[in-house]
Amino acid sequence: MANSLMTTYAPLPITFTKGEGVFLWDNNGKRYLDAVAGVAVCSLGHAHPAVAEAIAEQANTLIHTSNLYQIEHQVELGDKLCALSGLDKVFFSNSGAEANEAAIKLARLYGKQQGIERPNIIVTRGSFHGRTLATLSATGNRKVQAGFSPLVDGFVRVNYNDIEAIKSVAKSNSDVVAILVEPVQGEGGVIVPDTDYLKQLRDICDANDWLLMLDEIQTGIGRTGQWFAFQHSDIKPDVMTLAKALGNGVPIGACLASGKAASIFTPGTHGSTFGGNPLATRAALTVLKTIQQDNIIANTKTMGEYFLAEFSTKLSAIDHVKEIRGVGLMIGIELTHDCGELVAKASEQGLLINVTAANTIRLLPPLLINKEQADEVINIVSDLVISSTA
Ligand SMILES: Cc1ncc(COP(=O)(O)O)c(C=O)c1O
Repeated sequence: MANSLMTTYAPLPITFTKGEGVFLWDNNGKRYLDAVAGVAVCSLGHAHPAVAEAIAEQANTLIHTSNLYQIEHQVELGDKLCALSGLDKVFFSNSGAEANEAAIKLARLYGKQQGIERPNIIVTRGSFHGRTLATLSATGNRKVQAGFSPLVDGFVRVNYNDIEAIKSVAKSNSDVVAILVEPVQGEGGVIVPDTDYLKQLRDICDANDWLLMLDEIQTGIGRTGQWFAFQHSDIKPDVMTLAKALGNGVPIGACLASGKAASIFTPGTHGSTFGGNPLATRAALTVLKTIQQDNIIANTKTMGEYFLAEFSTKLSAIDHVKEIRGVGLMIGIELTHDCGELVAKASEQGLLINVTAANTIRLLPPLLINKEQADEVINIVSDLVISSTA
C-alpha cells in the first residue's frame, strides 16, 4: 500500500494497536506473543504499569527543559547506572547510534590528548553500531554501508573473536586509540565469542593504553542475564554504550566512561537537545528500579537456560540446524539455509520472531517471560524449524 513514508523499511502488513506484557494485539484483535520485544527494547513487556504510570506522571509534571539546567532524574539515573556498572560518568543521548557517536568522539579526543593526530579505532566484521555516518562506517556490514561513501575514516577492521588479529594491528599501527566491540554480536547473528575474549581485549587495551569500548546497546540492561554482558567476565570497560531496553520504548541512549576516559568531554565538546530530558530519564529510572525490584535478571538467566535446553533437546539432531546458541534471553538458531520466510509463518501462528544474518532465527523476548509463554515460543519455533526447507 502506497503511503507517504520513505521506503527505508519493508514492514509486515500488521498494525499493532495494543500491548500488555509479552502480548500484542493487532487492529483485527488477533493476539501475538512478542519474542522480538521491539528488537530488545521492551524488556519489561508492553504497557508495563509502573513504567506507564511514571511516564504519565512525568508528562503531567515536566517533559523537557534543557541541558542548560540541572535535570533531577538525569542525575539520579546517571548515579544508578554508574553504581550498577562500576563506571564513573554518563552522557545521555536519544538512541544507540548517538551513544556510539559519543564513544567515537570520546576516543578521538583521547587520541588527540596523546598526540595522535589521526586516531584509529579497531572494529570487527559482522558488527552493527548504527546508521549515522560514523556508526555505519564502524559497522562491519557492507549492506549497511552501500551507497554512503565516502565513509568516515579511522576504523581498522578485524575478525570478531580473533585476538591474534588485534595483536598484529597493535604491532603495525601506532595510531590505534581504542577497540569498539559488542560483547555478543546481535544483528550479526547472535555470535557469542570465547569466554575469555573480553578479558583478552582488556589485557591488550591495558598493554597499549587503548580504550576498551563495549557496545552494550543490545546486550545491556539485563538481556544476557547480567546487568551488562561484561559482568560475565572479570573486567570493566573504559567506555560502554547503552540504549534499547534502557527506556523500555521511550527513546534514550547513554555513553558511560570510567577512569581516564571519564573526564575527556568538557563543556562544549558534545551535546544533545533532547538527550537525558526529564521524561526519558524518569522512564529509564523506573525501568532500572523495576528490574531490580522484580528480580528480572534472575528470571532472564533461568528462562534463557530453559530456552537453550529445550531447543537443544528438540532441534540439535535436525540436519539443517547448524547451531543453537545464546546468552540469557538473546537466543540464535542458525540454520544451514536462509530462513527469512519464517518470520511471516510465525506471525500467522501469532508469534513474532526475527531472522538476522539471513539464516539465524533470533529471539529477544521480554525478560519477564514465564515458562508457559516460553513453551508457546519453543513449540511454534521448533515446528517451524523442523519443517523449514532450503
Ligand atoms: C549493538 C547495537 N549497536 C547500535 C545499535 C543502533 O541503535 P539505534 O538503532 O538505537 O541507533 C543497535 C541497534 O540495533 C545495536 O544492536
